[in-house]
Amino acid sequence: MRVSCTVNGSPAVADDVWEGESLLFMLRERLGLPGSKNACEQGECGSCTVYLDGATVCACLVAAGQAQGRDVRTVEGIAAGGALDAVQQAFIDTGAVQCGFCTPGLIVAPDDLLRRVPQPADPEIREALAGNLCRCTGYQKILDAVRLAAARRSGDDRSGGDRSGGDTGPGGGPGG
Ligand code: FES
Ligand code: FES
Repeated sequence: MRVSCTVNGSPAVADDVWEGESLLFMLRERLGLPGSKNACEQGECGSCTVYLDGATVCACLVAAGQAQGRDVRTVEGIAAGGALDAVQQAFIDTGAVQCGFCTPGLIVAPDDLLRRVPQPADPEIREALAGNLCRCTGYQKILDAVRLAAARRSGDDRSGGDRSGGDTGPGGGPGG
């Protein structure tokens, strides 16, 4: 079947989509957008997080056909005008990226959080990231990155340094 939708602000058409095909597969393999990662394909890791009509979803759990006529935004659509978004830059500046496999989801999820809650408290950040698993790093630098991005988006970048809290998962436990 053919799926027509809007992806990152532009019309997109994918042909020969199988009925059981995921949105993630369609984005990566048919539309040339490999930013969203396939790490578990079971809705467990958040590496495939994208926006669908403005709400974050795991693209591996959404059928490609469900995107028909809808608006999709991937990690490739986060940066505007070729410049890195504050969340992306903060991940670089705090050293929150190792292998990078989790990073696309960990860019989209805080982007969503900061749109809803411009200056989130730590528990809100942890809750927002609870569905995003990182296999490489401790989560402290990831939390630092989100704090820094929040500060920069709100015009105060003084709060990007290390804070206490240990190397626990975003939900408060090891590995989230
Ligand atoms: S690849 Fe979709 S949640 Fe892990
Ligand atoms: S940086 Fe490797 S999985 Fe997160």
